[in-house]
Amino acid sequence: MDVVGAKNSVLKLMAAALLAEGRTTITNCPRILDVPLMGDVLRSLGCEVAVDGDVVVIDVPAELNPEADYRSVSRLRASVCVLGPLVARCRRAVVPLPGGDAIGSRPLDMHQAGLRLLGARSEISHGCVVAEADGPGVALRGAQVWLDFPSVGATENILMASVFAEGTTVIDNAAREPEIVDLVRMLQEMGAKISGGGTSTLTVHGGAELTPTTHRVIGDRIVGATWAFASVITSGDVTVQGVDPHHLDLVLDKLMQAGATVEPVGEGFRVVGSGRPRSVDWVTLPYPGFATDLQPMAIALSAVSDGTSMITENVFEGRFRFVEEMVRLGADARTDGHHAVVRGVERLSSAPVWASDIRAGAGLVLAGLVADGETEVWDVAHIDRGYPLFVENLTALGGDIRRVNAPPVR
Ligand code: UD1
Repeated sequence: MDVVGAKNSVLKLMAAALLAEGRTTITNCPRILDVPLMGDVLRSLGCEVAVDGDVVVIDVPAELNPEADYRSVSRLRASVCVLGPLVARCRRAVVPLPGGDAIGSRPLDMHQAGLRLLGARSEISHGCVVAEADGPGVALRGAQVWLDFPSVGATENILMASVFAEGTTVIDNAAREPEIVDLVRMLQEMGAKISGGGTSTLTVHGGAELTPTTHRVIGDRIVGATWAFASVITSGDVTVQGVDPHHLDLVLDKLMQAGATVEPVGEGFRVVGSGRPRSVDWVTLPYPGFATDLQPMAIALSAVSDGTSMITENVFEGRFRFVEEMVRLGADARTDGHHAVVRGVERLSSAPVWASDIRAGAGLVLAGLVADGETEVWDVAHIDRGYPLFVENLTALGGDIRRVNAPPVR
């Protein structure tokens, strides 16, 4: 199974294009709805954006409009990553708050605190996060920033805001996700002076002139891992290409503990499940810990494993909402605060269930693959936002799945 570029990378790379006037080309983009939606956000700022297959071309004007449009921003949360580039380019940004979602409240306090340390004023006003670094005596200048938590979004926004700041910015307790490393690489290709990508300390020497670039998005480790979980849950045999297996070291090790055989194949990996998996405990943490985006897959696996699994969610407080849907499928699961205890059962039983977000939807489909009878997963538009050709890919892997057009249930 070939996996294309990472959703959590491409959207930030599209925002990074704002930092240089001219034409930036991004390749290996996933064909998911969020890419054209991010294109709409950039258009509202004055860019021309063409999405053609897996290539996105962004023409950035000399003068950007620093105010993002509510209708486009509210359709995808990741659009908040235009905040940093707009502050850097325009010294002013007005970005409507995208709102909470099914996995938690998702505040922007760390983004704002970082921008303030760089010298911008920032407040929430009329439903927008407003950041300004213009006017007499105000300038963006390098600063020491300590993040309370290695937030992916805050790291990205502060990093992008700092590239034109005067002096050196150091972001400590920065996120270390492979998607951050991808963003750092693209910014370096554009001419930014950044070191420390992939470590918890990022150093930016501000003031560089940036020029547009052509950049290839890294493979989507979450999609690759989803197919790996599918293999173990269904006693299948799946080979994944297009994802750096080192981005999944911990996940693949855990799947081996659950009884799977994992081997390198070319530049990817093969995962073979055999019989009922063994129960394993899972703890979500920022990278290189186990990704919160894979927690629903871990619960689906635990639901049919031999033994009891404890799943601890440390990143998003609302992420266990979907466990109720797993219970509808016959999972013996209960949650208490940020822990879930799942006692594996031999068989799940089909039921109509609701996909509350991208990853919950994927986890429910994986569980549906091994539930007795026909499982209906509703509101699968969520899944389309993270997984290109989800049904087609699962069918190619041997899954018995079809898409039925239906109106949203919630
Ligand atoms: C990104 C990913 C998402 C992934 C998450 C964690 C994208 C588009 N989304 O989301 O798929 O699950 O990283 O790996 O890349 N927080 C605050 N204040 C802030 C910022 C964050 O309290 O200012 C909290 C959040 O509520 C959450 C935690 O920090 O509890 C981590 O959030 P963060 O790493 O920022 O996630 P996102 O960038 O939103």
